[in-house]
Amino acid sequence: MLVLGIETTCDETAAAVVRRHDDGTGEIVSNVVLSQAAHAAYGGVVPEIAARAHVEVLDLVIAKAMVEAEVNFSQLDGIAAAAGPGLIGGVIVGLTTAKAIALVAEKPLVAVNHLEAHALTARLTDNTQFPYCLFLASGGHTQIVAVIDVGDYVLLGTTRDDALGEAFDKTAKVLGLRYPGGPEVELEAGRGDAKRFTLPRPMVDRPEPDFSLSGLKTALRLEAQKIAPLTEKDVADLCAAFQAAVIDVVTDRLRVGLRVFRVRFGEPTALVIAGGVAANQEIRAAIGSMAAGAGVPLVAPPGSLCTDNGAIIAWAGAERLTRGLTDTLEVSPRARWPLQPPRASLTGPQ
Ligand code: KG4
Ligand code: ZN
Repeated sequence: MLVLGIETTCDETAAAVVRRHDDGTGEIVSNVVLSQAAHAAYGGVVPEIAARAHVEVLDLVIAKAMVEAEVNFSQLDGIAAAAGPGLIGGVIVGLTTAKAIALVAEKPLVAVNHLEAHALTARLTDNTQFPYCLFLASGGHTQIVAVIDVGDYVLLGTTRDDALGEAFDKTAKVLGLRYPGGPEVELEAGRGDAKRFTLPRPMVDRPEPDFSLSGLKTALRLEAQKIAPLTEKDVADLCAAFQAAVIDVVTDRLRVGLRVFRVRFGEPTALVIAGGVAANQEIRAAIGSMAAGAGVPLVAPPGSLCTDNGAIIAWAGAERLTRGLTDTLEVSPRARWPLQPPRASLTGPQ
């Protein structure tokens, strides 16, 4: 099965062709990602700029993915596009383009939930079997999810305020580093002294596997204000302290998440990490040690498949197509689209 995947929910314009073999394994045939550079000057993604940039380049990105895959539209088995959640202007561009191709080429359309694409990536890269425990940490989401089957996801824990990637991005902004902040903060942290500043570890030891990150972000800002103007060493030390606090929080919350998973669903086949923050080498290593201690194999897709791309959308499309799950041309783009309805006890954004 050969599927074209289109991703335009944030600031990457991406398209890819992915093959799903009959034994359930996957193969990336082409994967083209164009990151929009225009946002760096603003310290964050500007939705209107993003939407216009997607319009300008998406057809070229798709053409490149098709040429690199050496296929034409008639050879595809389906067209998949991320239909949300995300910045609505960009989502409209990607989904409308997918609809046009599906209509003209007379192929089935699959409207993919971007979060589901991150959730299923481990099956593309490692053929991970259900059920598994997913840690999804991106610019917009921080979730621990029980992945039971395609379309069957149970939210075990989430953030009550900021997403983890957002906390990295805001920390970078406070410290005068470039957007996106995650890679910058990781680089600085590598040469910093984590012990120079004492930052809080919000939610650690709480029995439910939820996160709260805004207090950590504020504590970092206050420390930075106390010693401003910042030297290069101050920035590196603050980044190191921030990343160390994040690692303590993440490993503690995942330990609790795995415990909750086992009580409700039995033994997971793996702990899978996904989303842009999972590209962080220190965080990956720390989660790896924690998982080993808990006796659960860690599956960590390569960083290039943790951040946004078309291959994960195409793969989710293939998984749905295999089960006969397709969408009509009437399907709507969605700015908000939770994998699972929020729990009543939570008040923060999902
Ligand atoms: O999954 P993704 O590419 O896009 C969203 O769906 O949000 O994730 C982007 C987020 C950004 O907040 C970025 O700062 C963060 O992932 N990120 C990182 C790293 N690389 C990207 N955070 C920490 N360390 C990194 N190396
Ligand atoms: Zn993403």
